[in-house]
Amino acid sequence: MRLRDSHGRVATDLRVSLTDHCNLRCSYCMPAEGLAWLPRAEILTDEEIVRLVRIAVSRLGVDEVRLTGGEPTLRPGLVGLVARLARLRPRPQLSMTTNGIALVGMAPALRAAGLDRVNVSLDTLRPGRYQALTRRDRLADAQAGLAAVAAAGLVPVKVNAVLLRGVNDDEAPDLLRWCLRRGYQLRFIEQMPLDPQRSWDRAAMVTGAEILAGLRGEFTLAPLPARGSAPAELFTVDGGPGTVGLVGSVTAPFCAACDRVRLTADGQVRSCLFAREETDLRTPMRAGADDAQLAALWMRAVRGKRAGHGIDQPAFTQPARPMSAIGG
Ligand code: GTP
Ligand code: 5AD
Ligand code: SF4
Repeated sequence: MRLRDSHGRVATDLRVSLTDHCNLRCSYCMPAEGLAWLPRAEILTDEEIVRLVRIAVSRLGVDEVRLTGGEPTLRPGLVGLVARLARLRPRPQLSMTTNGIALVGMAPALRAAGLDRVNVSLDTLRPGRYQALTRRDRLADAQAGLAAVAAAGLVPVKVNAVLLRGVNDDEAPDLLRWCLRRGYQLRFIEQMPLDPQRSWDRAAMVTGAEILAGLRGEFTLAPLPARGSAPAELFTVDGGPGTVGLVGSVTAPFCAACDRVRLTADGQVRSCLFAREETDLRTPMRAGADDAQLAALWMRAVRGKRAGHGIDQPAFTQPARPMSAIGG
């Protein structure tokens, strides 16, 4: 059985949010005071996560599992959870998307537990800007975290950067040079309207086209062939081997090729970041549903996935759940 939707797409990439908490406060994600966190009793236990991922890989054809947050390294017992997920058969590819500030010291253990890859968010190389943007003085920790994942062999290392107008939109070339020098693949992500403080403004958003034009002033970029289901469009830089990516979530949505499905930290299946519908697996699981029943609920949730979510339409309205509680 597979997670096939009514538009012919098959979800094979499961993104699991481990917590909605975070130790940064990126201005495009959450307010300085943080958010009303999900009630602790509603957060899935390790046992429950392993069970649902086991159902996904053994019954539903999922072959890639991405751990996200909030900030996934804040989850107590993360290394043990990764080890349990790595023992599932068929064994899924295991990756994590993190802000990186806690990775020094954790990276070798995560690798040993079975994690395959890590993507780290880094929007600026300037300490003052990092502090203003994330409201924490942790740039050096994020950079050291990146070095630690590379040293631990968790490769290829990918770096995600969101550019905000008037904040860090002049830094694309510096970020690219910095990443190329270290062998990291940098991807720029268009800012999406997923923050509860609603800071997103379509007119002010730094577009992918604008980012590319800026980079082309300093580098020769050549597009790589079709990106398949990956959200990033890739370019070689100055003839390669280095590359840069562009995730045009807003101006070039990749819904038609989407192979993703999401599980929130409180056990809701979401077929998309921008979906308004959720399917609760936690309540039936805790009420005693068996694996076949949970798999059936999950398939029904994906079957109802919409063709697109209208993010490129002016009338788009954002979902109630913020990015940090959906999973990046
Ligand atoms: P890999 O390239 O395999 O590492 O995966 P990835 O690019 O999906 O990884 P990552 O978690 O780092 O995601 C990069 C960014 O793409 C995220 O920060 C999101 O902003 C964006 N993104 C991820 N999934 C989706 C999605 O389903 N829809 C949209 N619009 N954007 C997404
Ligand atoms: N728009 C685009 N990217 C976002 N991220 C978090 N919030 C947004 C947003 N509103 C990014 C983070 C991280 C990844 C999980 O998603 O910077 O790289
Ligand atoms: Fe934390 Fe990521 Fe949100 Fe920044 S974008 S506050 S690192 S969850």
